[in-house]
Amino acid sequence: MNRRHLKQIDIVRAAQNAGVKLGKSHVSQYVSGKTVPRSETLNFLAEVLDVDPAWLLGSDGRTDHGHAGAEPSARAEAGDDASGIGSAGFGVTGFGSTALEESTVRVVSGQRSSSGRREPASAPSMSSTVSSPSVPSTSLTLSAREQTAVPVEMARAAAEPASATNMQASSVVMSATSAMKSEGAPMRRFHKSTKLDNVLYDVRGPVVDEAARMEEAGMHVLKLNIGNPAPFGFRTPDEVVYDMSRQLTDTEGYSASKGLFSARKAIMQYAQLKNIPNVGIEDVYTGNGVSELINLCMSALLDNGDEVLIPSPDYPLWTACVNLAGGTAVHYVCDEQSEWYPDIDDMRAKITDRTVAIVLINPNNPTGALYPPEVLQQIVDLAREHHLMIFSDEIYDRLVMDGLKHVSIASLAPDLFCVTFSGLSKSHMIAGYRIGWMVLSGNKSIAKDYIEGINMLTNMRICSNVPAQSIVQTALGGHQSVNDYIVPGGRIYEQRDYIYNALNAIDGVTAVKPKAAFYIFPKLDVEKFNITDDEQFALDLLHDKRILITRGGGFNWHEPDHFRIVYLPRIEVLKDAVGKLADFLSTYRQ
Ligand SMILES: Cc1ncc(COP(=O)(O)O)c(C=O)c1O
Repeated sequence: MNRRHLKQIDIVRAAQNAGVKLGKSHVSQYVSGKTVPRSETLNFLAEVLDVDPAWLLGSDGRTDHGHAGAEPSARAEAGDDASGIGSAGFGVTGFGSTALEESTVRVVSGQRSSSGRREPASAPSMSSTVSSPSVPSTSLTLSAREQTAVPVEMARAAAEPASATNMQASSVVMSATSAMKSEGAPMRRFHKSTKLDNVLYDVRGPVVDEAARMEEAGMHVLKLNIGNPAPFGFRTPDEVVYDMSRQLTDTEGYSASKGLFSARKAIMQYAQLKNIPNVGIEDVYTGNGVSELINLCMSALLDNGDEVLIPSPDYPLWTACVNLAGGTAVHYVCDEQSEWYPDIDDMRAKITDRTVAIVLINPNNPTGALYPPEVLQQIVDLAREHHLMIFSDEIYDRLVMDGLKHVSIASLAPDLFCVTFSGLSKSHMIAGYRIGWMVLSGNKSIAKDYIEGINMLTNMRICSNVPAQSIVQTALGGHQSVNDYIVPGGRIYEQRDYIYNALNAIDGVTAVKPKAAFYIFPKLDVEKFNITDDEQFALDLLHDKRILITRGGGFNWHEPDHFRIVYLPRIEVLKDAVGKLADFLSTYRQ
């Protein structure tokens, strides 16, 4: 990339122009060697970079373009696999070489020459080393690409000269190398499935890895990146904890695979209160969080190439699970100018004869939007017109502010097949207990075969966490302590108002007021700050102010102009964070 004077963003733009699906996170993953591109993407990248595709993959031989590939002898010593594809991946050849040329870090399995050629790792002196002995100063000198190109453990081990960790790392390298040599045959390497090629989960991605590394080096990082209420002082209601402890000895065995009767009955009654039609107890499934059920539903539904409409921005698990199941996530835009409501025209324009379903996240993560009945009705009409099913993720349905009321889309669609997801992670502050559910409703007769698939996968995972199921009835009935948080004077309400006003007071930042959940998705004036890479922005903020946010791209938002803040911390902490952000942005230019 250096030789061609290209940055990651140039490649992403070229891909857009060429109609090739390629995000910055993809490029980062290829650079870091975490994934290997599909052949179409590989060929495109090779063309843009003017190199041989085989060279990008670390294959043998010299290329037509005259760039040196790895020498066969070097490859054998380094223990590459016979195909030459992917064992070291991009991270230690083509792209990765650029990152490493700029960096002071070297890689355990082999050092590269400036041509991108791979040379053998043969002696301890070639094991990972970082020129600076101190982790903090190293972290501050590495660019985004360098950060992602260097496995965290290696950098950490390397940053501790002559430490036990480093000695161990060296001896592992030595023994691995000698094992390869003594066998005289290439060592087999194990790769992750290519099904993961299009799977990204930046909420816990490379910037988070860097934050973890900084914390391990003794730095305090303020984490505004994960919607996990407990660490911010939101305690599980006492009654829930008490009831679970009372039932622990009764919940030692597996339950029925859909869940305990008492839990499912309570969920069914909750569905009735939300006017979700045609729900019997057999239509309720508990899961280890909504997360497990999203994955299960996509795996049971999708054949290769089936398309699912997913919001942009989204909660990225949806996109990841669609892609993992072999489907294609097609993103419809949510419009910031209209309170982040789904753009119905865009949704309509993206329906093809492969589209099977529409996904809705309402209330929305990351925007905090709540969709009114008129918007929901338009989506129902579209689904009806095109014979689509609806998946509605409503895990924040009890965290709605300003006197507004959450409406389940399934309540407007008795003639369609709908799956509605919810759980206790957010409303009852027990994300760690892992309990969520889904409810099938409406016209189930058109989905008989699909439901059979869901049942197969539900049986295969045996059942969800039984102690957590045992408190669903307690949690859903009686006093709802969450209600105290979402009214004036309540923590979530007041924190929402504070963060909304404080962010909008920063020159170059604007944000729509969230109506629900505990996220805000502010916009940056990219021209003012010259921002072209939102991952770089997140890393720069992390390094400079030790604040961890999630970049917009992590939510399948395709411009570098947004980021997400979780406003669960108390106002004093948010004040400190916003002050630092304002200070950072007062001089930041990318
Ligand atoms: C929209 C959305 N759906 C699902 C989940 C996962 O929930 P669970 O803890 O039930 O797996 C989250 C977690 O942040 C979320 O934001």
